[in-house]
This record gives sequence, C-alpha cells and structure tokens, in this order.
Amino acid sequence: MFLWGAATAAYQIEGALSEDGRGPSIWDDFGPIRDGHTAAVACDSYHRWTDDVALLAGLGVNAYRFSVAWTRIQPDGAGPANPKGLDHYERLVDALLAAGITPALTLFHWDLPQALQNDGGWLNRETAHRFADYTALVADRLADRVGLWITLNEPFVHTVFGHALGTHAPGQTLFLDALPAAHHQLLGHGLAVDALRAAGASSVLITNNLTPVWPASSSAEDLAAADAYDILHNRIFNDPVFIGSYPDLSAFGLDRMPGLRDGDLAIINRPIDGLGVNYYNPTRIGAPESPELPFTDAGVEGYPMTAFGWPVVPDGLRELLTGLHERYGVPLYVTENGCSYEGLDDERRIAYLDGHIDAALAAKADVRGYFVWSLLDNFEWAEGYHQRFGLVHVDFETGVRTPKASYRWFRERIARGA
Ligand code: FCB
Repeated sequence: MFLWGAATAAYQIEGALSEDGRGPSIWDDFGPIRDGHTAAVACDSYHRWTDDVALLAGLGVNAYRFSVAWTRIQPDGAGPANPKGLDHYERLVDALLAAGITPALTLFHWDLPQALQNDGGWLNRETAHRFADYTALVADRLADRVGLWITLNEPFVHTVFGHALGTHAPGQTLFLDALPAAHHQLLGHGLAVDALRAAGASSVLITNNLTPVWPASSSAEDLAAADAYDILHNRIFNDPVFIGSYPDLSAFGLDRMPGLRDGDLAIINRPIDGLGVNYYNPTRIGAPESPELPFTDAGVEGYPMTAFGWPVVPDGLRELLTGLHERYGVPLYVTENGCSYEGLDDERRIAYLDGHIDAALAAKADVRGYFVWSLLDNFEWAEGYHQRFGLVHVDFETGVRTPKASYRWFRERIARGA
C-alpha cells in the first residue's frame, strides 16, 4: 500500500512544555528565534490532538508522521519512563489506528533533553546509548501498533545548524568540529534499530534531509567542490547506514570520520527497511572562496521561490530519488516535502505539491510513500511562526484550525491514487 501522509514534529506543534512531567529540551530556552517567538503554545496539539486526528481523517491520508518528545518520556534523558508521556502517545496511536491511519513515529526530531546537553549532548558518545534506552521505552509500549518507525530526523540539519553554525539549538558554532555530533547520532540510530528489533518493530527507517548537488559549471574546480558538498550533505548520512562505510573525507582535511571507533560501522549498518527522504530544493555549488571549506553555495537561480526564499524545483525530487535508487537500491519514502506560503487560497502550494508528487512518481525508484510537510502551520524553528507550511491554517492566538485550498486539493489527489 502506497503511504499518503502528512507530517509534523512534537516541538513544532505540541506546546504544553511543562505539563504532565515533561522535562526541558534544548529548544525551550534557545534564544535566537525571529521576533522572540516561542513554542510554549504552538498549535496546542498536546491538548487538541483529537482535532488533528479528525483533520487527518478528513484529509483521507492513510499515514501520519509525528514525533515523540523525548523529555515527555524521560524528563532528564535517562531512567524509567514517565507513564503520562507514554499514555499521551498511546492515545494518539490508538486514535490514528481507529481512523485507519498508519502511525509513522519519529523518535528524535531535534528536541534533545537539556539534561543530556549539559553532559555534552550529541558530542558525547554516551548520548547514543541514552537514545537507545529511550527508544526501548517507547518501543516496549508501542511496537505492536506503530506501522513505521523513524529513528532520526535529518541528522545533517541538526549537526550543521545546531552544532556547526549555531542557528538552531543547541547553538554551537563548531564548524567541522561538529562532525562527532553527526557520528554519534548515526551510532544512536544503529543502537536504536537494535532496540526496535528487540521489541518486535517491523518497519524501520532513518530520515535524511537530502539534496541533488549541481556543480556551478563543468570546470574541474566546481566539480570537485560539488562532490565535497555532496559528501557533507548527503553521503556522510546515507553511506554508513546503507553501505557500511563513510565517504572519503580528504576534501575536508580528514583521514577518517571524527569520533569513529572500531565496530561502530557494523552497528550503524544494521539492516533497515528503507530511507526517509526529506526534499525541499537542489543545491548549486561552486569552487571555494575561502580556505575554511572546500566549496561555496552558488545559489540556484531562474526558478520561482517560496516565501522562505527556497527555489521551487520539482524535477530535483525525481533526480534525487533516481540517484538514491541507483546508489543504495532500498525502498524510499518521501517523509517531508512542502513549501511556505501565506494565505488560505494557496494555489502556489497546490502547484508545488502537484509538481513534486508527479516527480516522485516519475522517479526510477522504489518509492513507497509521500508525506506533505506539514499538516498544520507550526513553529518553524529559528523562524518562529513566520513560515506557514500547513495544509491547515492555524490561528496562533486562538488555536483555531482552518483547512486551506491545498487541503481539499490533496484529498482529491490522494483519491486519484499513485
Ligand atoms: C525540515 C524539518 C522540519 C521543518 C521543515 C520545513 O528541515 O525537518 O521540521 O522545519 O524543514
């Protein structure tokens, strides 16, 4: 069955940050957010989750991708489960199943427990083991009912924005010294796969943010730069999982992946059931302009832009999925794709989604699902509430949800089938 879905993440929709024993995450006090917006209320989905399930049922999707907030399960990132946290997600899972919707559960969508950050966060190898412990607690309760498990969301973005550039929590500016955070997330992924299998979980994925990399020209310098960027953005996060090795990092002056120890790759390479692909746009890369990095972002030009300023290139998704199929040969699920635009009569969102769905279905690849980012307008990380990605408009003063034109369009597109 092809999965047609919509996606959200706990921190972006739930609010209720101090309720029912939830502990603080690294995002709760993160400063640099546009206009000082906070996720204290967000879409209030912690209280209004039955409204969300009704919206999903009305949309006609057969899958819903959501994430569990680690600190609702383990307020301090370690120790026994907080039953109220597990109860919340169990109610959601049961309501989805009752509506004929497959739960697709992401275990880590960036909201690391602050207590673990105080001990070094993902730069500390121990965090990988804490992640596996947390996974076991969730899986023990829900493995019999969750149809699709996603270990990590976009370790590339969490590493680069959170640990290299500092625009996301935890706000570190370590540049290439952030790479151990990538390795430890991937190690955590592998350990979590073992925990999921031990609990009887069937379908397990990792979700990566992936981009086709276009060289700015056919010069040798631009080709080499594009190859280096492809390694950093895509292959560091896919190769160890599906091939069991890291790509050559010599373009970054490294002879091996920082943090890698003997035996790690066998854990990261545990067999899984496919790759979750989050696609927003391609990247155009040229030769370096400074000695710090072996590439420069040359910018994609000549395409329409979303309200976020991201180029709209549907065929990039076909190119990406076809290339992933050739390199890894695994089932692919588009676990996020969408765009930021204002307004309820969102014709440009409809055009964006229509073009990208056609592109996904045209790929020479084993594509098994497509999830729109997002069901709801929500808290868009460092942008606060300024970017609206939802099929459903949310009034952040009142919590009122209003389906947009794209919601009605997606329902009809699903009915036409894959
Ligand atoms: C992705 C994130 C998701 C959302 C979209 C717009 O990188 O996974 O939470 O913010 O971008």
